[in-house]
Amino acid sequence: MNVSEALKSRISCRAYLDKPVPQETIREILEKAKRAPSGGNLQPWHVYVLSGDKLQTFASSIAEKIATNPQGEGSEYDIYPPQLTEPYRTRRFKCGEDMYATLEIKREDKVKRMMQFARNFELFGAPSALFFSINRQMGLGQWADLGMFLQSIMLVAREYDLHTCAQEAWAIWHKSITEFVDIPDEQMLFCGMALGYMDTSAPINNLVTDRADLDEIVTFC
Ligand SMILES: Cc1cc2nc3c(=O)[nH]c(=O)nc-3n(C[C@H](O)[C@H](O)[C@H](O)COP(=O)(O)O)c2cc1C
Repeated sequence: MNVSEALKSRISCRAYLDKPVPQETIREILEKAKRAPSGGNLQPWHVYVLSGDKLQTFASSIAEKIATNPQGEGSEYDIYPPQLTEPYRTRRFKCGEDMYATLEIKREDKVKRMMQFARNFELFGAPSALFFSINRQMGLGQWADLGMFLQSIMLVAREYDLHTCAQEAWAIWHKSITEFVDIPDEQMLFCGMALGYMDTSAPINNLVTDRADLDEIVTFC
């Protein structure tokens, strides 16, 4: 698989097979992905990997908490700007609508939409979860570096026939994650990532999201 193929075949996978990913495979992916660049080579990331019984225990504890506190603990950062302007607002709206359309969940069906959102906290059935943290002293540049690390993992995963879904939704459970995987105080949780083998029979995985035309995002000066 070349880089273009990895880029094209990577999607946010939201349904997985019940098939474990060997720890050795995850190690290999992370070993390759850690070549991601970062300004000053700070490598300002840390990743916590959860699989098997440990992941089950963690997911069950979150499910219990969701039952009484569906809003979670509140994110430490704004997942989106509070006043999202155009064209971003429309893009975000369309991405959600297109996703729910694959499941035939209508806009009025708030309960089903909430239940689908809650699938985030079951990792969409993925057998492994990655949680990413960054040292609190880091600024915008280093957060961009962290994004490159994430994308590198997502692309290398494709070489192993694996799929991923980056999950900022986990930011609302930052306290529970911090406690469970023991993230030190000076580190802050950014997001999670589901990792596993795609369930190709699941309609939600047929979603191919839009991208803006090149003219909208590029200026050849
Ligand atoms: C940092 C980051 C966080 C994301 N968080 C979530 C999430 O919490 N739940 C989810 O279902 N998708 C999440 N996504 C997936 C995006 O919605 C998705 O990347 C976007 O709609 C483009 O679709 P594609 O990844 O299938 O190409 C996230 C993506 C990124 C890069």
